[in-house]
Amino acid sequence: MRYYQQHVFFCTNLRDSVRQSCQRCDAQAARNYVKQRCKAVFSDPRAIRINSAGCLNRCQHGPVLVIYPQGIWYRYDNQNDLDDIIDQHLQKGEIVERLLLPAPPAL
Ligand code: FES
Repeated sequence: MRYYQQHVFFCTNLRDSVRQSCQRCDAQAARNYVKQRCKAVFSDPRAIRINSAGCLNRCQHGPVLVIYPQGIWYRYDNQNDLDDIIDQHLQKGEIVERLLLPAPPAL
């Protein structure tokens, strides 16, 4: 049984090295924006949860987020991308194809 209907994790990891990390793209501000918009959109507090996360190990595609229970991974570049994820995926359950990360190699 799920506690939240949808659970979103934003990588907000910041590295000191030159290697890519999501916080270099201001991921925390993106997470805060989505959290605020979702508070206005979803009245049930268990409908959605927006969390910060450490490195999700898909750094080369960052900044990234993942949505459960579907396990859908997105990359975003700007507020328009975040709005599409909220409006299409989180509200309507439609995948935002243009923002999907490449499928990982098979196990
Ligand atoms: S730093 Fe964001 S996925 Fe690794």
